[in-house]
Amino acid sequence: MNLPRAIEWDGTNLRLLDQRRLPGEIVYLTITGIDQAVDAIRTLAVRGAPAIGIAAAYALTVAMSADPPAQRDAFLARLDALAARLRASRPTAVNLAWALERLRARSQRQPTLAALRDEAEHIHREDEAICHAIGRHGAGLITPGCGVLTHCNAGALAVSALGTATAPMYLQHAAGVRFRVFVDETRPLLQGARLTAWELDRAGLDVTLICDSAAASLMAAGEIQLVLVGTDRVTANGDVVNKIGTLGLAVLCRHFGVPFYVACPSSSYDPATPSGIAVPIEQRAAGEVLGSSAAAVPVRNPAFDVTPAELVTGIITEHGIIHPPLAAGLRRLIGDGQPASSSSAT
Ligand code: MRU
Repeated sequence: MNLPRAIEWDGTNLRLLDQRRLPGEIVYLTITGIDQAVDAIRTLAVRGAPAIGIAAAYALTVAMSADPPAQRDAFLARLDALAARLRASRPTAVNLAWALERLRARSQRQPTLAALRDEAEHIHREDEAICHAIGRHGAGLITPGCGVLTHCNAGALAVSALGTATAPMYLQHAAGVRFRVFVDETRPLLQGARLTAWELDRAGLDVTLICDSAAASLMAAGEIQLVLVGTDRVTANGDVVNKIGTLGLAVLCRHFGVPFYVACPSSSYDPATPSGIAVPIEQRAAGEVLGSSAAAVPVRNPAFDVTPAELVTGIITEHGIIHPPLAAGLRRLIGDGQPASSSSAT
């Protein structure tokens, strides 16, 4: 793919593509410490649920490399303190806590830098394989001549390899299937306009950018046969937490009879949280919404919303597509949400 990688790791050094500057500039940040990593996650230099988890895993490895305690308890105490800071950087995507927990579990068995590095690299490699599997399972949903609508960026920039929601699109495109992708601009930070449209266009797909509020009229006109989005967290009952505006799309899909599918790697499944109402929704700064021409009034800027399971047609995982009842399907296909750890070393 003709795309810079969101996360670069050479075994020692971590570089993050600064997504705040896309598509105008391709600039990498070299992450050397925890403060810088927290800032990069909080300000969306690196963003997208799986990418945040991978970046945090590497950042924790980098931060631990500076003067690692030799004694086991001290090693784990330092790891926990650093991980707590990373975990607090963004609250909604479960991948962040999931990746940090994987590193902790591995460190409890092997409190060494080498084991940390190995686990972080495994998480990254697994993610690439998962994207391909999601793509293979979801590809058949994209039929010749259809219109697909996506929201925010669940592409290669948000994950690794093919992305999640975009993976079926990339594979069908590579197979020569002709279809059109409509991309919501995704107010207020424009991940759709700046990232998804750019990413898909660079890969040669047929992309059309729309205002978020144009989705209804396109569905009414029969131009959209499928809505396909990513997720920051799917709870035990199948509720889907994703970028603000996703819920509105799901409601529209129900009205117009358009299938609403969610691409969800197992790292975004949270079986410990019963439903979406219990998920902390990140509230971001007013300045992201207030343009220079806006009236100076109070602002609400929730970054995510919850789509109830009953509005979801299906969830595409690396193990296959789950149709309702979602809770049972998620339990059966993903189980406790923990892919086999690399921690063969015990
Ligand atoms: O605020 P962002 O840009 O991190 O939000 C990203 C999303 O909402 C994505 O749809 C989600 O993380 C899935 S990425 C595979």
